[in-house]
Amino acid sequence: MFATRRLPGPALDELAAECDVDVWSDRMPPGADALADRSAAADGLVCLLTDRIDGALLARCPRLRAVSSVSVGVDHVDLAAATARRIPVGHTPGVLTETTADLAFALLLAAARRVVEGDRFVRGGEWAPERVWEPDMLLGRDVHGATLGVVGLGAIGQAVARRAAGFGMRVVGWSKTPRAVPGVASVALGALLAEADFVSVHVALTPETRGLLDADAIARMKPGAVLVNTARGGIVDETALAAALASGRLAGAGLDVFAREPLDSASPLLALPNVVLTPHIGSASEATRAKMATLAIRNLQAALAGHRMPHCANPAVYER
Ligand code: DGY
Repeated sequence: MFATRRLPGPALDELAAECDVDVWSDRMPPGADALADRSAAADGLVCLLTDRIDGALLARCPRLRAVSSVSVGVDHVDLAAATARRIPVGHTPGVLTETTADLAFALLLAAARRVVEGDRFVRGGEWAPERVWEPDMLLGRDVHGATLGVVGLGAIGQAVARRAAGFGMRVVGWSKTPRAVPGVASVALGALLAEADFVSVHVALTPETRGLLDADAIARMKPGAVLVNTARGGIVDETALAAALASGRLAGAGLDVFAREPLDSASPLLALPNVVLTPHIGSASEATRAKMATLAIRNLQAALAGHRMPHCANPAVYER
């Protein structure tokens, strides 16, 4: 078994008691060749969202019988290529739902109430004796009573909607496959963008959702709205978003994910004070990362024992 990084929690050590476990020990992920060489020697591969698992890699690993990603999103894995080779791909839904929803809400609140700008203001010494308190200092947007638009009503989108209800927000939602969610008025995507004061993105990145919030969609957002993205960067056109934020048409954004990670130092987003940026930490609590590792190892163990993975992203492998 090859794991492309050390994992939080005891799961990898427990597995090492049962089978040979080769763990990539560097802080940086293995490059394509190292990934293929080490995976080629393994029956099972535990990977992260930073590892590209494509058809070329799988072709170099004829022995591989299972891939298990320590993530719910599997846009870094070529599922069709894995399915063609009858390799089940595990992922970790469920255990990170509430933790990711917490971060989405934290970003929403921080962007709405200019929390990070306020922190910079204090630390930067601008809150000096000659600027005690001003009636128009760092005015933000009210969250209570506002309308939240949830793009993608899967588990995380629903968890964000529950938090919004506690804040007295009205919640509208859109999903590719329409779903009835208590407390969420189901609307078309265009209506959501036009009505919502806050838009939070919770769809998986697939060929259909890549660029879902493109320049046109961003132009249809309500003036003064705030965009939150804790899903995947590729869903939002960052250039169009940065332009809308710079012009003041959108009031702010809270972004945990980016089209390219780490975020390029030339990104226009970095220059915008009304954007709160975090480094893809949606699921980053100690407890949740340990649960993700445990689930990923369970997926792998099940597959290598000839059983169905508890959470398989390409269940077609189990069809005859
Ligand atoms: C995932 O699991 O897909 C997140 O992006 C990282 O936890």
